[in-house]
Order: sequence, then structure tokens, then C-alpha cells
Amino acid sequence: MISLNKLFFGIPKTGTRKTIIKYLEGKTFESYHNPSAGRFAGAEILANIRIPSKEIYCSDISLFSSILGYYLSNKEIKQLQISINDENVFEADMETNTTENIARLLLSLKYFTMKETNNYISSYKRSLIENKEFHIQNLSESLKSLYDKLNGIHYDILDLLKIEDELQDKEKFYFIDPPIYSSDDYIKMFDTNGKITWAQPEISYFDPKVQINPLLKKYLNAKATIILYISVNKEKKLDDFNLQGWTKIYLKKEPTGRRDYLLVNKESNIRIVERPTDTITSINCPIYSLEDFKNTSI
Ligand SMILES: C[S@@+](CC[C@H](N)C(=O)[O-])C[C@H]1O[C@@H](n2cnc3c(N)ncnc32)[C@H](O)[C@@H]1O
Repeated sequence: MISLNKLFFGIPKTGTRKTIIKYLEGKTFESYHNPSAGRFAGAEILANIRIPSKEIYCSDISLFSSILGYYLSNKEIKQLQISINDENVFEADMETNTTENIARLLLSLKYFTMKETNNYISSYKRSLIENKEFHIQNLSESLKSLYDKLNGIHYDILDLLKIEDELQDKEKFYFIDPPIYSSDDYIKMFDTNGKITWAQPEISYFDPKVQINPLLKKYLNAKATIILYISVNKEKKLDDFNLQGWTKIYLKKEPTGRRDYLLVNKESNIRIVERPTDTITSINCPIYSLEDFKNTSI
């Protein structure tokens, strides 16, 4: 089944979401911002604590986020000038903002970004088409619940590097989950090999290798309150980032080596360290012996 989360990777995990909510408790800002919004999980956190949609500002540069962003902010999807230059397998319309049509567009995007490099992907793509009505209905339901939460937010196609003046406003709150591995990740993730084109802005995907540290410095000096989310796997170290001056408010280490951090550019008393939850521990189960499991064919 295709859910919104399966269309996009990089959603902040539960502990992270809870910590942002805890941090915001008792604080009010004039507006709440989620640049590089991805699939709008940051905006969803804000909506969950009843920040009104009209106070939430999101931006990104990808077609995936822009389709979602135009839908949620009630901007006409036809302004994106999307064109499917292949068989329109999900019968998407390029001009209609209905939930079902947004599902058709997002499924088309998913379909054309999947490269048939092995049999599994080829058969998965075939099954998407064979069961398309099911997938369209299913995705429409997730979209509808996202729309019910975020309908009326602001969305703009905007370069993360171009947020300047607003950062000097202490009445603004930012939740930023920037790309931290490589700019290629998103280019590959959204590449349709020309099968889908749109009025793509001339903005380069953020290149963390050279752009992250200058950005962190700029954020640190901002008057706005900024919570930064950094999720690294074992190959990448937090030392790669210049985080001097930032306050760590959340840390979770997974046994896989993944570490999730939240940092804020202000002082804070909140410090949450979570123990890993996905360690597989053997339990002593007196009802079954290991022998009972040896011949299971599942
Ligand atoms: C780590 S993801 C954010 C995930 C997000 N928290 C979510 O809820 O899905 C990073 C996002 O940055 C966007 N991005 C990449 N380069 C950008 C740029 N120059 N300006 C703005 N956004 C950019 C990508 O399109 C992607 O959606």
C-alpha cells in the first residue's frame, strides 16, 4: 500500500516530534516556519498542537513538495505547469486541485521516479498499475487527513539559502530539517528522466558538503528561534557539523548507529536523551523451546 510516508523518506521520528512539542509548551510566536518542508511532517507537528494554519509557513523546491504545498495552501496546481511526457498511467489532470487528482499526480511522480533496475521494481510498478484504483483511493485518504490538518497554510517555492530577513525577527519560530547527506539524494529521488516536467525553479538542491556549516552559522546568529533536526547514520559524525553554540535538546542513539539530534539556537533547560527502543533482546519464553521454531517454514 502506498502511503504518504512511503513516497518520501526522512520523516522526524516520534521522540523528535514530542520534544518539539515540549519545547514549544508555554511559548508563543507570531509565525511558525518549516522550510525544506518535504512531506510537511514539521507542519503537521505544529498543527497537532493547534497552531492555526494561517500562522504556518512552509517552503521547498521539489515537485513532490510543491504539489502537496499547492494543494494544502489552496494554490492552483495548474500554476506548476506539470506535464507528463509518457503514458498518463494514473490519468492525472494537470489543472485540478481535488484530493483524488493530487493522489493521481503523486502516484505518477512515484511511478516515473522508480527505475526498473531489477525484477522486483518492475513487478512492483506493474502492481501499482494493476491496483491503481485501490492506491488512488488509499492515498486520497491520507491526503484528505493531511488536508484537514493543514488546509490554509502558506507554501512557497523557496531556496533554503534565501531565508534572510525573517531570521532576524524574534517573533518567528523555525523548525528546520535540512538535507545533510548529499544533494544527489534528492536529485535521484525525484528524477523522472524527463517523463514529468514542470515549471521547475532554477534553484539548486542544497549541497550539505559545502553549504551546511555556513548555514548553521547564519542560523545560530538569528534572532528567530530555530530548532534544527539532524539525523545521522553511523558513517556520518556530528563532528562534521559546526555546532558550537547550539544547545542539544534531544538525542537518541539507535543500535544501528543512527543518531537523531535536535538542537536549538537559544539556551534551553530541555534535555531529553532517549534509550534505544529497537534493540532485539532475547526473552526467556517458557512455553516454547527453540526446537519448536526450528522447522517453521514461514
Ligand atoms: C530532510 S528533507 C526534509 C524532510 C521533512 N522534514 C519531511 O517532513 O519530510 C529535506 C528537504 O529539503 C529540500 N531541499 C533541498 N534543497 C533545497 C533548497 N535549496 N531549498 C529548499 N529546500 C531544499 C528537499 O526537497 C527535501 O524536501
